[in-house]
Amino acid sequence: MQTGRTTLSKFLIEELAAGHSDLGSLLIDVAAAVKSISVILAKGALDGALGSLDAQNVQGEVQKKLDVICNETFISQCEWGGQVSGMVSEELEDVYAIPDGNPRGKYILLFDPLDGSSNVDFNVSVGTIFSILAKEDNEPAVTDDFLKPGITQVAAGYALYGPSTMLVLTIGHGTHGFTLDREGGNFVLTHPSILIPEETSEYSINTSNSRFWEPPIARYIAECKAGTSGVRDHDFNMRWIASMVAEVHRIILRGGIFMYPRDTKDPSKPGRLRLMYEANPMAMLIEQAGGWASTGRQRMLEVNPTSIHQRIPVVLGSRREVERVEKYHAEYDAGTDTIFDSPLFGERSLYLEN
Ligand code: F6P
Repeated sequence: MQTGRTTLSKFLIEELAAGHSDLGSLLIDVAAAVKSISVILAKGALDGALGSLDAQNVQGEVQKKLDVICNETFISQCEWGGQVSGMVSEELEDVYAIPDGNPRGKYILLFDPLDGSSNVDFNVSVGTIFSILAKEDNEPAVTDDFLKPGITQVAAGYALYGPSTMLVLTIGHGTHGFTLDREGGNFVLTHPSILIPEETSEYSINTSNSRFWEPPIARYIAECKAGTSGVRDHDFNMRWIASMVAEVHRIILRGGIFMYPRDTKDPSKPGRLRLMYEANPMAMLIEQAGGWASTGRQRMLEVNPTSIHQRIPVVLGSRREVERVEKYHAEYDAGTDTIFDSPLFGERSLYLEN
């Protein structure tokens, strides 16, 4: 058991300015939800909770039993304390109203209770992502209250359920990682003030979508793959866990770039990931750790949302790499991208073949 170290409660007492104790209480409730979810997930097949339901969520994706269980767990831990006036979850179509009789507060909470859940049946790391916005009053929250750009988030974080359970969060002063000490039941500050390494040779993207990519992404990946024989002049490594939380966690600790870009696979969708409870909280954490997060064409945190379940292209990680991808988009949009002169790829059009 860890004693004498900074627990999440102590950290919040020290870091939150006077008058923000409600935010601290809400984050403690979020941490309680994470502990419960961690216990549920750790049972694996023992509780019969693996597998899919016959239902689909609002995204049209097959719901796992654990998606629903984790969603209910998160809501029940956070709805009673009087800090929030409404919630939005990936698993619910509409805004979740705080039940009559429960006190309401001036924060609103957005979350993806079980991110990467396609991995959950196979004991691969999954996560929970959350974002907290402030509201002027404690009247029941309506959709418009949630449609604020990510720059207005007052806190954001994720939980990673891996070999250990970690809570990584920001309240606007850096990005800090806590590891769950199971014996003591506390989250202990183990990764204070995380800074993403600037130099990186690692990229993460689902390359099975490569024929649907836009040219700027195809160009960037072709250059990474060309390695020492191309313009980048060094070799790159590739990782794809299909679990955004695990991917982002690796990137904030050892650098890299994560992309789920716009593609033409399903033209009705501008991206795969959700702005409000995936991209925005990750963007805040990444920026607070010295990295950068973008749609490829715009700073993520400045996107004005149009709906609570909006999808968005995502490029985030080590700042210089993300800026390079933004530059390729800008050049492509302006028609000024130059022919890529790698010995492997002589024609710009060849990028699309990778
Ligand atoms: O729902 C989001 C998510 O599960 C992310 O965690 C992950 O990065 C992505 O989808 C995986 O997508 P795909 O199955 O296309 O690789």
